[in-house]
Amino acid sequence: MGEDDIPAVQQIERQSQMAPWSAQTYRREIRNRQSCRYVVARADTRPPNGSPSTTDYPLLVRMLQRIGLVSLLPTARPPIAGYGGIWLNERSGHITTIAVAPDHRRRGVGELLLNALIDGAYELNAEYLSLEVRVSNLAAQRLYLKYGFRPVGQRPHYYTDNQEDALVMWTDPITTTSFKERLRELRRQLYERLRQQADQPVADNPRSGPMVG
Ligand SMILES: CC(C)(COP(=O)(O)OP(=O)(O)OC[C@H]1O[C@@H](n2cnc3c(N)ncnc32)[C@H](O)[C@@H]1OP(=O)(O)O)[C@@H](O)C(=O)NCCC(=O)NCCS
Repeated sequence: MGEDDIPAVQQIERQSQMAPWSAQTYRREIRNRQSCRYVVARADTRPPNGSPSTTDYPLLVRMLQRIGLVSLLPTARPPIAGYGGIWLNERSGHITTIAVAPDHRRRGVGELLLNALIDGAYELNAEYLSLEVRVSNLAAQRLYLKYGFRPVGQRPHYYTDNQEDALVMWTDPITTTSFKERLRELRRQLYERLRQQADQPVADNPRSGPMVG
C-alpha cells in the first residue's frame, strides 16, 4: 500500500462496514516500516497472455497508441480489490485490518492478502499471529480458521459502533515446520485456484453468493 492508495482503500473500508480509519492513521501505519506492513491486491483485468485489450483504453489513448506516443503516458494501474495490514505487537504479528471489495469477494483475494500479511509477519520476525474479529463475522472467521487461527477468548463490547463482542484468535508458532508445511500446501491450492479462475469472468464464480454459516 502506498500513500496514494489511501482513498481507494477507504472506499473499500466504507463498503465493508469496517471501523473507519483516518487518512492520517493509514499514513502513520504505512510509514512505520519498523513494525508494520500494509498491502493492497490489484484486480488485473488484462487477459492471461498479459497484453492489455485495446478496449481497456479510452479512445484518446488508443489514438496515441497508433501514432506511437502511448509510452509517454503513465501506465494506469489496475484498481484495488482489497487491502490488509499487520502490526508487530511484541512477539505477535497482529492483523489490524483486512477487507476485499464486495465485487471481488469469494475469489481468493482475501486469502491472497492474508498470505501477504503472513509474509510480512515473517519479515518482522513475529512468532505468532493474532487478531480480533466480530463474533458475528463468520466469513472472516472461516478464513482465519483455514489458516490455523484458533479462538482463545472474547473481548466483551469491543466494537464501539454496536457494542459487539470480539473473538480473539491466535495461531500456533509460525516458525515451526508443521505451520510452514501447512502454509505451503494452502498456498499451492490457492495459486492453483487463482490460475484456474484467471480467465473466468467474475459473474461466473461458482463460490460467489451468500455466506454459508
Ligand atoms: C473476510 C473477507 C476479507 C474474505 O475475503 P474473500 O476474498 O471473500 O475470501 P476468499 O475468497 O479468499 O475466501 C477464503 C476463505 O474464507 C472463507 N470465506 C470467505 N467468505 C466466506 C463466506 N461468504 N462464507 C463462508 N466462508 C467464507 C472460506 O473459508 C474461504 O475458503 P474456501 O473458498 O476454501 O471456502 C471478506 O469477506 C471481507 O472483506 N469482508 C468484510 C470485511 C471484513 O469482515 N474483514 C475482516 C475483519 S476481522
